[in-house]
Amino acid sequence: MGRPCIARIYLDRLQSNYRTIKNLVGPGVELFPVVKADGYGHNSVRCGKALLSAGAGTFCVACVEEALELMESGVKARFILLSGCFPGDESAVVKAGLVPVVSDLETCGRLSAESRKQRKKVRVQVKVDTGMSRLGVATDGLWEFIGQAGGLPGLEIEGMLSHLSCPDYQGADYLKYTRRQIEDFSLIVNGLRKKKLKLKYYHLAGSAGLIKYPEARFNSVRPGLALYGADPFYPALEHSLHLEPVMSLVSRVCLIKNLPAGTRISYGGKSVLERKSRVGVVPLGYADGLPRSTPIGFKFLVRSKPATLLGAVTMDFIMLDLTGIPEAEPGDEILIFGREKSGAVRVEELAEAGQTISYEIFTRLGKRVKREYQSKP
Ligand SMILES: Cc1ncc(COP(=O)(O)O)c(C=O)c1O
Repeated sequence: MGRPCIARIYLDRLQSNYRTIKNLVGPGVELFPVVKADGYGHNSVRCGKALLSAGAGTFCVACVEEALELMESGVKARFILLSGCFPGDESAVVKAGLVPVVSDLETCGRLSAESRKQRKKVRVQVKVDTGMSRLGVATDGLWEFIGQAGGLPGLEIEGMLSHLSCPDYQGADYLKYTRRQIEDFSLIVNGLRKKKLKLKYYHLAGSAGLIKYPEARFNSVRPGLALYGADPFYPALEHSLHLEPVMSLVSRVCLIKNLPAGTRISYGGKSVLERKSRVGVVPLGYADGLPRSTPIGFKFLVRSKPATLLGAVTMDFIMLDLTGIPEAEPGDEILIFGREKSGAVRVEELAEAGQTISYEIFTRLGKRVKREYQSKP
């Protein structure tokens, strides 16, 4: 009981999405599920365990702390540190056998020194910048980098990766940019083979890349968003994959009031009632993760019927128009997003209406939102 603001997380749907993506890419391509940022707000430990039992063996996290939390909670897997190894983290990285992504020689030098100190090999994956302009070695300095990093004692380069910057964007320019990134990465992979440098892993694509560009799959992929059941292309129709929404965010009507025409609702009084209305007050606000930018008129679900947002989203509450749902009562469940027996509200639609992205909605879910897990891995 208590404040009825709940994120229901369906771990069986996560496993189903894993299998859907695995079937799409086929047996020659390994999945490295991305469970950083607490599993995109879905709880990395629960998701990690569910994905382990679905067949995953290597996970992508951002940093050492995220990997250690998973390891200490019993997720027995390999961990790739997508953000790299920050100064001071070398000892923990080597000790725990984590696999940092590297983009500079200084980090490689520190890891090599630590490896000698602990008398333990450290495996790294080299990132190359093909156009994201974030992490990664510049393509023209790559061979020199590999020569130098590969010669450092105790350091083994086990993989090569890059990151697509716009695989989910529509239009000819984006298509061209993405194809060029894929082509550049392919040239590097082929170049490594010609130099007889056989690495174990080559990966470039996250969800959008692996779905839309089969040639970007190489021998491994890093799906995040699609595993959690959100479509990176929404509202465009780019594929026929059946992805299941893993999270439902729900709350309950806590108060219903009958208000006369002309009443102004919420901060700034931006909604003015045109008629006598039944207004439902719902304990869920922007501190719980509902974007403050959600527009007046956005439709949530009550008793399988659309209930529109009245006024601005506040920190702890929203107000909904229940005039057209006379059967609605205090205690009724409101579906903010996700899929329940009562129907579905797409997180992508909410994100678009609020001028944000599903990633941000998931990862900004508030601390006080109770998490409920609907199936055991
Ligand atoms: C380097 C890297 N790879 C993969 C992913 C996963 O991307 P997506 O969630 O779009 O599948 C991310 C997400 O932020 C990332 O930063």
